[in-house]
Amino acid sequence: MHFYQPADPQPCYYCVKISDQEETDYPIREGIFTVEQMIFRCSWHAQFECSRCGKFHHFSWLYWCPKTEELTCGSCNKPSMKPVRFWDRTYAYEYHCKTCDEVHYDLFYSEFRGTHPWQTENFQLNSIITVDESWKPIWQPVETRKGGNISIEDALKLKNRVVEIRLKSGDVNFHSQLTPEDKVDFQDTQMKWEEISKNWVENYSKSRELDKGKKSRLSIIETAFWKALDDVQGLKVLDAGCGSGYFTRRLAKKGAKVYGVDFSEKVVEYCKKREEDEQLGCKFSQASLTDLALFENNFFDLIVSNIVFMGVQDYLTAFLEISRVLKKDGRFVWSNPHPTFVRVGAMDLKLPFDTHRNEEKLYKIIDRYFDSGGTLIALGKFHPVWQFDRTLSEYSRALKQAGFVIREIIEPKLDLEMIKSNPKFSAFDSGRYPNYIIYDCIKLE
Ligand SMILES: C[S@@+](CC[C@H](N)C(=O)[O-])C[C@H]1O[C@@H](n2cnc3c(N)ncnc32)[C@H](O)[C@@H]1O
Ligand SMILES: [Zn+2]
Ligand SMILES: [Zn+2]
Ligand SMILES: [Zn+2]
Repeated sequence: MHFYQPADPQPCYYCVKISDQEETDYPIREGIFTVEQMIFRCSWHAQFECSRCGKFHHFSWLYWCPKTEELTCGSCNKPSMKPVRFWDRTYAYEYHCKTCDEVHYDLFYSEFRGTHPWQTENFQLNSIITVDESWKPIWQPVETRKGGNISIEDALKLKNRVVEIRLKSGDVNFHSQLTPEDKVDFQDTQMKWEEISKNWVENYSKSRELDKGKKSRLSIIETAFWKALDDVQGLKVLDAGCGSGYFTRRLAKKGAKVYGVDFSEKVVEYCKKREEDEQLGCKFSQASLTDLALFENNFFDLIVSNIVFMGVQDYLTAFLEISRVLKKDGRFVWSNPHPTFVRVGAMDLKLPFDTHRNEEKLYKIIDRYFDSGGTLIALGKFHPVWQFDRTLSEYSRALKQAGFVIREIIEPKLDLEMIKSNPKFSAFDSGRYPNYIIYDCIKLE
């Protein structure tokens, strides 16, 4: 245990958690201990020395035997897990004491029950701790408690830490927990994109900034995307979810006969106006990828889609439609945020938390990978839009169902040239894990 004297004392992390659980009289002690310099803990919730192995352990990994007046750790005497609801926890460690043949519980659950050694009268504090402050006052529940029964199913439904941390860190404007995909209203996804389109078109159309795109997208995805596409000369191509049409126009400039569809009226209107001016031969229509009735079967040689599917509600239907309008052996090449690294349960751990500097990112934390569904996310000054998290296997299964085979998966990585073009990348940031993924698929049947 590292001893730390904060200049500006912090309340104990666990005391705060406990007092949040309707323990209105619970004293919030000063957090004067820390292991990682992030979570500060009081002397009740710090680490203690095991009388057997002499190692220091987290307080909830130790139990007290009143007979021997000794603390023993869970490594020296393996506990079993007792499913029990106490405060925000769902289980306690239960120890069978070989010395006195009684059952003891870990210090956390013991505190809840009122049987923690410091809650028992005449207890000699000196026998387990040498720090002579901060353990006071001895808080006790009104009566000894047992906690409530909780089933594993119910324990799994409790609010998870990932959502809690993300809400606190405020890095995205967060709607709520994930909503099952079929409970998200398709019309609402369309309306939300329509609002964002208005934003885009108004802000950028005059300067034609839309064609520049975000630097990270241009340098990371596009290089890999064009390399995968290779020669598009003379091909009949669909740009599915064309947005402002910058990818569509580029395809046209490379000699393809391009169609662009998007379900947002505003962007399609904008694309048509640009086409009148520039005459690149692009045809734009408003349509949802889940209903491409305006195209006949086996119409296209190639279908591309750039950062669209994370916003498409009912992706399987969209894959089936794309498959229908694509020729046999035609390619469907599409990019998306990476399903592992860019999702609700993934976040950058930065220290200090409020830093924006890339080199202060410590780790990517990934959790809740199997939680699929939709959430409303607002990035920057834009209106929130629905974004759907799905796993890699869910996407690959849907592609298979729609008659595709994945020929290659590309995880674009920054190369030295790209890093030179944007010094922010150089602070060992974007080369660490892929933010994007490109699926290069072929229609089999
Ligand atoms: C992030 S933008 C990308 C636009 C463009 N591909 C680009 O690279 O700039 C995503 C686009 O997908 C469109 N979109 C989302 N769901 C759609 C759906 N079901 N059908 C058609 N377009 C959809 C949105 O309207 C939006 O224009
Ligand atoms: Zn505490
Ligand atoms: Zn031990
Ligand atoms: Zn005992």
